[in-house]
Amino acid sequence: MKPIKKAILPVAGLGTRMLPAAKTTPKEMLPVVDRPLIHYVLAEARAAGIEHFVLVTGRGKGAMEDYFDHAVELEATLQAKGKDEMLNSLLADLPKEGEISYVRQMAPLGLGHAVWCARHIIGDEPFAVLLPDVLTTGPTACMAQAVAAYHTLGGNILVVEPVPDHMTHNYGVIAPQSRDGRVIKMSGMVEKPPQGTAPSNLAVLGRYILQPEIFDILAERERGAGGEIQLTDAMAKLMQSQSFHALDYEGESFDCGDRLGWLRANVAFALNNPDLAPAFRAIVTELMDGSPD
Ligand code: UTP
Repeated sequence: MKPIKKAILPVAGLGTRMLPAAKTTPKEMLPVVDRPLIHYVLAEARAAGIEHFVLVTGRGKGAMEDYFDHAVELEATLQAKGKDEMLNSLLADLPKEGEISYVRQMAPLGLGHAVWCARHIIGDEPFAVLLPDVLTTGPTACMAQAVAAYHTLGGNILVVEPVPDHMTHNYGVIAPQSRDGRVIKMSGMVEKPPQGTAPSNLAVLGRYILQPEIFDILAERERGAGGEIQLTDAMAKLMQSQSFHALDYEGESFDCGDRLGWLRANVAFALNNPDLAPAFRAIVTELMDGSPD
């Protein structure tokens, strides 16, 4: 079984749900507490043993290339002022030379198309996909749990989590065949099933391990929901010839692609930050006490 060494992080979307901020700040650069979304997700991939990160970027997304590079003036200033701790922390977060590649999706034609744009860098090996607008927490990194499951199961793995029944129409939902602990053998999946028709309440959350044959299917450029080249449709096709398992992972996810999800993540991460939590809790309590019912 080939190990998972490369990950695709698609960051070329328009982020329309986060306008007007996303007009000039890429959605993936919006901060949760003190660091951008892409920072958390790259760290999650690293914690899963990923050695090569492929960012699929687009017009206006250059801030991410600068973020993962030296800021020479800033570093020199911090050094001159003796702010060693801050400087060392910035340097420790940088990817090593050659660990990160950028490929341009020349038009935002959908997530499936974004993944396909990275095909030459991935080559003929299984790979991970992490959507940077979803943050995860848990006892171990979400993607590391997926990689561990892959080492036992092989094939393709989709991380899922239960959502309330009345919310399933917002997600890609899997059709389970059988379950063994946290691992579910899949028989299918549906993108945004109409109310009352979902085959389960297990929603796909934006962490995948895929086999390279997915690229052949994506090359057909078939348009799906919203006229976009959908990764879900390509996975459904690949399911006809390859094994797919879902992993009901241990942890919690935060969908930061819309305003409420992003606000929820900020509150949760601040309350979980030992430096900020006591003061932040007091602020939230004060605001809640003064807020109308
Ligand atoms: P989303 O559907 O959440 O992103 O895609 P979006 O299209 O930017 O958001 P809205 O709906 O307009 O608000 C999940 C991830 O896939 C990337 C996005 O950048 C995001 O990180 N993506 C999406 C691409 O890279 N290319 C695309 O064509 C679409």
